[in-house]
Amino acid sequence: MKKETLVFVIICLFGLLFVFTIYEQEFMSAFSKKEIINEKPAPQLSDLFSDRPDGPHQKFSTKENCLRCHETGVEIPGMGKAPKIPHEVRPNCISCHKLPAN
Ligand code: HEC
Ligand code: HEC
Repeated sequence: MKKETLVFVIICLFGLLFVFTIYEQEFMSAFSKKEIINEKPAPQLSDLFSDRPDGPHQKFSTKENCLRCHETGVEIPGMGKAPKIPHEVRPNCISCHKLPAN
């Protein structure tokens, strides 16, 4: 390897290291962001109204429909507390949260 090439490579490596130290915060927070945790299985949807086939947990239409109750979490009289969504919003909720088996 020519001496010039070696010097160039070393300068590039230091450059990368420098960029990394500047953006370290961003890199780290990107990894620690509340991504969906894989160790835990997604809880299955409970049968909120077993007598209503079109109840909020009985079928999935859009994520907006689910987020009506789960964006912030609400207390629903006679039904319980809808927990606030603890992770980032994904478009297809039921790819992980299975609908109650009918
Ligand atoms: C009308 C409000 C409402 C809507 C709409 C709604 N939920 Fe829920 N959700 C609740 C309530 C209330 C609970 C708590 C049930 C309990 O504690 O037994 C709950 C609980 C949950 C849970 C925790 C597991 C469980 O079932 O106890 C998940 C996950 C969930 N909902 C996801 C969803 C998804 C996905 C959708 C869209 C298909 C959705 N919810 C639509 C009210 C709602
Ligand atoms: C990639 C898989 C995945 C998708 C897609 C997904 N979730 Fe989840 N969800 C999880 C996992 C895993 C947990 C459990 C996290 C924990 O307990 O820390 C969870 C937990 C929840 C909880 C809290 C349940 C409780 O008992 O506290 C709610 C509410 C919820 N999700 C709603 C939703 C909604 C609404 C959508 C669609 C916008 C959605 N999820 C999409 C994987 C997913």
